[in-house]
Amino acid sequence: MSARVTRREAIAATLAVAGLAAARAGEAGPAPIRRAIPSSGESLPVIGMGTSRTFDVGEAPAERKPLTGVLAEFLQGGGRLIDSSPMYGRAEQVTGDLLRAADATGKVFAATKVWTEGREAGIAQMQESMRRMGVARFDLMQVHNLKDWRTHLATLRAWKEEGRVRYIGITTSFAPQYAEFEAVMRAEQLDFVQLNYSLGERESAKVLLPLARDRGMATLINRPFMRAELFRRVEGKPLPGWAADIGCTSWAQVFLKWIISHPDVTCVIPASARPANMRDNMQAGFGDLPDAALQARIVAEVMG
Ligand SMILES: NC(=O)c1ccc[n+]([C@@H]2O[C@H](COP(=O)([O-])OP(=O)(O)OC[C@H]3O[C@@H](n4cnc5c(N)ncnc54)[C@H](OP(=O)(O)O)[C@@H]3O)[C@@H](O)[C@H]2O)c1
Repeated sequence: MSARVTRREAIAATLAVAGLAAARAGEAGPAPIRRAIPSSGESLPVIGMGTSRTFDVGEAPAERKPLTGVLAEFLQGGGRLIDSSPMYGRAEQVTGDLLRAADATGKVFAATKVWTEGREAGIAQMQESMRRMGVARFDLMQVHNLKDWRTHLATLRAWKEEGRVRYIGITTSFAPQYAEFEAVMRAEQLDFVQLNYSLGERESAKVLLPLARDRGMATLINRPFMRAELFRRVEGKPLPGWAADIGCTSWAQVFLKWIISHPDVTCVIPASARPANMRDNMQAGFGDLPDAALQARIVAEVMG
């Protein structure tokens, strides 16, 4: 490694951590990148947090302690949107418990899903989710994987009118469901759509992401690391010198910055059970993003 590259990397690393360090210290510093929710104009920090598997733990202090650290890193890094689901076992309850313990329930943008068949079952499940996460109303309620979406969207429209939920949406995470997802996006008025988009799963950029822009819908991006598959692709591969040009000090930040460089992405929701990884991920919400040439180079480097 040349001295020039070393210096460039050192400067970039310093700049990249500056925003996060200031956010953690509660000081004014570089602000996290934010994106607007088209239906309201309210903005969100571009890095959110998922809870699938990572927050599905028991009550033992040894299981809960790392997640207390994960939540602290998320909040100190300026994060707001937390995404859960009744499908994720104990994740809603654990999220609620940790938020209460941190006195942070009112500080987050609470998102979860309805994942059942039938009107009454959907209502009962959403009420149970409110109890578990400790919120009087959800910021965002989504129909998980389009399960019985006609029924639940009818309930959610009424709930939105009554102020029991602020935003409504639908989710998917696999391309075979995209045709049906697209049809619902075209037919229904939605605030949010949640879908998978990553270096290894780029299909949604063809139709769904541009359609979200045209229809005025915010986008939440799940599976940003394809669980951990992207990390396996770069195992043992040193971070290239260009990573420093966009302030990245890890592959995780490169993967996340590639996603948020898409203009139709509102918020990406990586999941982690480790505080150090969550801190790493939060850093991707600060500083420069790759331009078109670098985006192409990143795809070639990681997927080529
Ligand atoms: N249909 C749907 O609605 C749907 C489907 C899928 C996902 N989702 C949502 O999207 C969220 C994210 O997707 P996902 O949980 O499937 O997968 P993901 O975020 O793509 O990947 C999670 C994995 O990445 C690892 N990781 C995280 N940060 C890292 C870092 N900085 N360095 C190294 N490894 C790191 C984690 O391990 P460690 O714990 O060791 O850090 C974990 O194994 C979910 O939690 C859920 O909220 C929704």
